[in-house]
Amino acid sequence: MASLTIRKLDDTVKTYLRLRSARNHRSVEEEVRVILRELIEGREEPLTPFSAPPEASPAPAPQRSSAVPEASVTLIIGGGIAAYKSLDLIRRLKERRIEVRCVLTKAAEQFVTPLSVSALSHERVYNDLFDPQSEFDAGHIRLARDCDLIVVAPATADLMAKMANGHADDLASAILLATSRKILLAPAMNPLMWSNAATRRNVAQLQRDGVLLIGPNSGEMAEAGEAGMGRMSEAIEIANAAEKLLRPPVPRPLAGKRVLITAGPTHEPIDPVRYIANRSSGKQGFAIAAAAQAAGAEVVLVSGPVDLDDPAGVTVKHVESARQMLDQVQAALPADIAIFAAAVADWRVAVEGEQKLKKTSAGMPPLQLVENPDILATISKLTDKRPPLVIGFAAETEHLIDNAKSKLARKGCDWIVANDVSPSSGVMGGDRNTVHLISKNAADNGEITVDSWPVMTKEQVATELVAHIVKSVTDKSLEPAS
Ligand SMILES: Cc1cc2nc3c(=O)[nH]c(=O)nc-3n(C[C@H](O)[C@H](O)[C@H](O)COP(=O)(O)O)c2cc1C
Repeated sequence: MASLTIRKLDDTVKTYLRLRSARNHRSVEEEVRVILRELIEGREEPLTPFSAPPEASPAPAPQRSSAVPEASVTLIIGGGIAAYKSLDLIRRLKERRIEVRCVLTKAAEQFVTPLSVSALSHERVYNDLFDPQSEFDAGHIRLARDCDLIVVAPATADLMAKMANGHADDLASAILLATSRKILLAPAMNPLMWSNAATRRNVAQLQRDGVLLIGPNSGEMAEAGEAGMGRMSEAIEIANAAEKLLRPPVPRPLAGKRVLITAGPTHEPIDPVRYIANRSSGKQGFAIAAAAQAAGAEVVLVSGPVDLDDPAGVTVKHVESARQMLDQVQAALPADIAIFAAAVADWRVAVEGEQKLKKTSAGMPPLQLVENPDILATISKLTDKRPPLVIGFAAETEHLIDNAKSKLARKGCDWIVANDVSPSSGVMGGDRNTVHLISKNAADNGEITVDSWPVMTKEQVATELVAHIVKSVTDKSLEPAS
């Protein structure tokens, strides 16, 4: 009978097998046998994603955005009194959507049981370097590398001494020597052990080696009457530190800035059932709102009728007509940056029919048009509440740059994003855009500069525009010249 070499399988299958076998408390080999048996009997378990939580999860994790990436930690529990806090740490990590695989030292088993640890982590526990069931394919290397971070809590004086000197005579120290992942230690020991010259040397060496430490804290010891430096950090502190390493905070260069954006078309009513509209989809304005929000800004998006979901974390005001849009824009002031990406109808009918207009023998209804308010010019020319940076969009079908330059001067805004919306460009309603950023900056003595960007997706245009805004608000020399 031919044997199967796990190493020759591709990585996705290997990872699936490892996680499934760990979840079912079986060796990978046994798991393969089970899968084959189930396949033959026609009742195989569906190939669930690796990150799917186990069905028997006792405590559902708090709701978090599905955008939060999955991460995994190998948690090494050393033999100290504080090991009991690591049971809580497992839960704290899991509620942050961090997978936890636990390794216990022999000494740790004197303080917490493998059963408690596996029940909380929903995984089998690893505790033996020479375990034939997990070592037939070098399981300790897997534990060292199939994770994003290694946390040692409690990190005993003994474990730190071993690490500092490169020992690998048990599973925990072998993993710590074989990893290229970041290591976070949560030391816990008696204050005299912590202040001992040997521990000091070992800690200094580990820090030189790039190992990270959280704590210890100062406080009461388990030993009666003893207090001082050596208490392990609380589980929540360790979980927060691990999460910060796994998901470093994203830069928020527009934090504290209020950005006002308009998007989409407007609908100008003719009568209760008919309206004048245009082909704007709102995609570009919505993409800018999402990009500004991701950069940390407080975003208000005033949108005409569109078929798009509201961007997460953005305050959206839905309107129909140009006049409603202007009202909502004015209500949203003051703002630091205003971006007018909406395709606002230039005209509306002078007298809106109160009832549906009827076909009559008298001929066509006279539809007289009147001008709509010019939102961009109105806000650009405000004296008191004018946002420091006002950006307009110019949708042109001919003489794009020249028309956009004269729009910049006419409207009194600071920048114009000009785009060709002739039908052949596919911009209106499409997913891509080719734009030219026309700006009047203090750095250029008020000279008008034209920056032509290559064809991009509307999301890329949004990201690029937000990057320019960030530069402008952080670099004073790029301030608009008004
Ligand atoms: C009751 C008791 C409590 C202990 N607490 C600690 C401790 O908090 N920190 C520590 O470094 N060692 C502590 N030790 C000593 C360790 O258990 C011992 O050094 C052991 O070899 C550590 O093994 P490990 O590093 O492989 O887990 C304690 C020992 C006993 C008996």
